[in-house]
Amino acid sequence: MKAARLHGFGKAAEVLSIDSPDLPEPAENEVRIEMLASPINPADLNVIEGTYGQLPTPPAIIGNEGVGRIVRMGAGVPELRIGDLVAVLDPGSWCSHRTVPAARVIPLPPGIDPRQAAMLVVNPPTAYAMLHDFVSLQPGDWVVQNAANSGVGRCVIQLARHLGFRTLNVVLRAELIDELLKLGADRVVTEDTDLRKDGASAQLALNAVGGASALNMANALAAGGTLVTYGAMSRQPLKIPNGLLIFKNLAFRGFWLRQWFEVTPPDEQNRIFQFLGKRIADGTIRVPVHASYPLDRIHEALAAAAAGGRDGKVLLDLQA
Ligand SMILES: NC(=O)c1ccc[n+]([C@@H]2O[C@H](COP(=O)([O-])OP(=O)(O)OC[C@H]3O[C@@H](n4cnc5c(N)ncnc54)[C@H](OP(=O)(O)O)[C@@H]3O)[C@@H](O)[C@H]2O)c1
Repeated sequence: MKAARLHGFGKAAEVLSIDSPDLPEPAENEVRIEMLASPINPADLNVIEGTYGQLPTPPAIIGNEGVGRIVRMGAGVPELRIGDLVAVLDPGSWCSHRTVPAARVIPLPPGIDPRQAAMLVVNPPTAYAMLHDFVSLQPGDWVVQNAANSGVGRCVIQLARHLGFRTLNVVLRAELIDELLKLGADRVVTEDTDLRKDGASAQLALNAVGGASALNMANALAAGGTLVTYGAMSRQPLKIPNGLLIFKNLAFRGFWLRQWFEVTPPDEQNRIFQFLGKRIADGTIRVPVHASYPLDRIHEALAAAAAGGRDGKVLLDLQA
């Protein structure tokens, strides 16, 4: 048993170490999973530095999502089998093995790429929920988003295309424009494009950046449109001119997946994860992997994940 454990909050080099904690035997209704892969998401970096909205009590194994195979089962788990590939819903996936309640795993469709499945639990439902829960989008409606090259951004592009919505995408780097158009984006512009002069008229804006980027997107909304903030990559606050509220009656909302898990009935979550698992298995949703690292090189992996200009996600290869 090997695990990345947090012993406090701050700089990863000072608070995160690879340890060998005890691994409990699976009790009734529990399964043991041999973990295969887990991504490093921005929220994981925020947990380590102690700035995330919900923090574990150290010492704690972290890692918000991951995938593995069931290798042992307690009594009373008729619907799962040894060898099943599953994604795990609870944090604590940066480890070689874990024991979890059977109710906290998602069985995956046959043939799914485990590395893609490792990224099922956080970004695809975030994209799905934001496209469904705020505005009743009709086929052909426009959605505008920033950080369009992010994991969430790519899921939004691919899901919107699948569902018949159109996307206007804002990126930091012009070199990504062709790649995102090929992925299914309808339009891609860079952050320095003034969307006030662009004639864009979207129903929904998805903001993962904040600051000037969010204001620029608010200017691309139609009257009555909604801007949903779900990330703050620039760490700059929102500045909203009074006129956007008075003359356009825009709505400004927020989204947090942890809260979505609390308010969404389990059957509905299950339905959405079945849908998203199938979309990953059939290639509708695919997020590139920039690099993968063994758990022993966690600090190199974290540095790579924190750097900008990546070609995709940084993954931990948990059996290497
Ligand atoms: N609220 C929720 O429940 C929820 C759920 C999932 C994710 N999130 C948030 O969503 C955001 C994206 O997550 P992810 O996993 O998709 O991220 P990711 O794949 O790691 O990508 C991060 C993206 O942010 C862009 N970026 C970084 N700094 C920026 C800046 N100053 N201005 C504009 N863009 C910048 C990067 O651009 P380059 O590609 O050019 O480097 C990259 O595309 C994060 O803030 C994350 O915490 C929130």
